[in-house]
Amino acid sequence: MVKKILFVCLGNICRSPAAEGVFKQKLKERDLEKLFVVDSAGTGGWHVGNLADPRMRQTALSRGIELTSRSRQIEENDLYEFDQILVMDKDNLVAVKSLTKDHNNHVNSKIKLMLSYSKNSQLDEVPDPYYGGQNGFDKVLDLLDDAMDGLIDSLMD
Ligand code: 4NP
Repeated sequence: MVKKILFVCLGNICRSPAAEGVFKQKLKERDLEKLFVVDSAGTGGWHVGNLADPRMRQTALSRGIELTSRSRQIEENDLYEFDQILVMDKDNLVAVKSLTKDHNNHVNSKIKLMLSYSKNSQLDEVPDPYYGGQNGFDKVLDLLDDAMDGLIDSLMD
């Protein structure tokens, strides 16, 4: 059975496209691509249709990851369409949960903080790099690289 995974942040131009790219790269390395459908979305709609932020794309490319997705805004149907929804911070968590009045366990249990899968970091949230410097973009990829191994391990259990 193919599993459908959605990564979510605020603008869908920095953290969640990076998460999508890191996840896809790791699937490729492990020859697991056929088992997953992967997408990303933003809780906000300001950047709909845009490629990821050039700083995020450049930083990912320097690690061999090409980000090609276009920003889209998450909608209620995504909560039913996807099997797991990984959010980058707690504001995203609130925003995604508020898309539906249907708060049964089936829906709620799909939505998790991405860094709940971290192996080596104590942080709960992937810090938003948009208004900061280059360090923020490197940090996003470091945190995602670590947590993504934990996520893939749990999905393959
Ligand atoms: P992201 O970063 O949520 O990681 O895509 C942001 C991108 C754009 C904005 C905020 C955060 N913005 O306010 O436009």
